Amino acid sequence: MLNRTQWILFVACAIALWLILGSIVREEKPPRQAFRQRLVAVGDLHGDIRNTKAVLRMAKLIDEHDKWVGGTDILVQTGDNIDRGTYALDIYRLMAQLRDPIRDAGGQLYTILGNHEYMDAIGDWRYVSKADIAHWGGPKQRLHDLSLDGWLGQEWLANYTTTQRVHLAPFKGAPSLSFTHGSLRPSYPHLLPYPDRINELGASLLKRGLTPPMAPPHPPNPYRGLPEGTTPAEASVYDGEGPLWWRGLADVPDEKTVCAWAAELQEKLGVRRIIGGHTPDFERIVDRCGGDVIIIDTGISYAYGGVLSALEIIYTLTPVDGVGELSADGAHIFREGDRYVEREEVYAVYQRGKKKIAVVEQQITI
Ligand SMILES: *[C@@H]1O[C@H](CO)[C@@H](O)[C@H](O)[C@H]1NC(C)=O
Repeated sequence: MLNRTQWILFVACAIALWLILGSIVREEKPPRQAFRQRLVAVGDLHGDIRNTKAVLRMAKLIDEHDKWVGGTDILVQTGDNIDRGTYALDIYRLMAQLRDPIRDAGGQLYTILGNHEYMDAIGDWRYVSKADIAHWGGPKQRLHDLSLDGWLGQEWLANYTTTQRVHLAPFKGAPSLSFTHGSLRPSYPHLLPYPDRINELGASLLKRGLTPPMAPPHPPNPYRGLPEGTTPAEASVYDGEGPLWWRGLADVPDEKTVCAWAAELQEKLGVRRIIGGHTPDFERIVDRCGGDVIIIDTGISYAYGGVLSALEIIYTLTPVDGVGELSADGAHIFREGDRYVEREEVYAVYQRGKKKIAVVEQQITI
């Protein structure tokens, strides 16, 4: 039989052993390191700098001094920042100012051209307000800024695209999303290779429009149409059935037709979702086919008076086997054959709150 002292010793040893073993086990099992990527996409802004900032603040991407606070988040803007409203110039300046801070923070900024950027580039000023021209410092200044010699013409050519594939994670074969101002048409002849072909044609058309001597603005001058020398392939980008103007995914009422188009596009382009602006719904972000197609134009500008909105995607990968390894700079290390639980949450964000559009959860091997 143990006496009282021996009992106390025995219990003390047992507790000590339990603590030591417990700490070893805990050390062998640190918390799992999940990969997390957030993406925010914003539709047509039409010259409203106040609502542009309000939307970016609502999405927690900039602070009250317009500084990037989105960290590694991705921001996509799907074009039509110009025309109708007064402050297009300020929107392009804001995007240009954010570009370096976003990159330095490890984030990504994708800016896309809409049909209205192209209209201004080819001298079609029918939707330019007098107040916009005055804010710009007169038509001459505006025409110069929007040329090959001007800062905005150069910025559009260097840092804007006509369509964009955005990957949700940096591993080979990671899911990607397609962003275009209008609707991609499955039978559009220059869809592939995606997105390079459309962007090549878009850039060469844009360059023609921005090359002096530029078309004198219409009105008051007569409408000149597409720049002289435009090839049929370049013209197809600006066509009514091309990626800048077509509305099929947004306005064809028959759901079956649209979902068949979406499936064809997903297959051809190798993307998970097809996202665009251009066709406003003043109350909500419109999702079709279970979120395969998402139309994010809610008429944000005061010129329309629609609801402030942003599309938010939160993508996480949680390791199944290991614990997830980080490199020295904190980036997630992906190794072929690793298994993860993939979760993609898609929300429409409004000032009144978030609304769920889709959630995907599945196990994947990368
Ligand atoms: C494009 O963006 C980069 C920053 O990523 C910037 O340094 C550059 O000046 C921009 N290009 C033009 C022509 O504005």
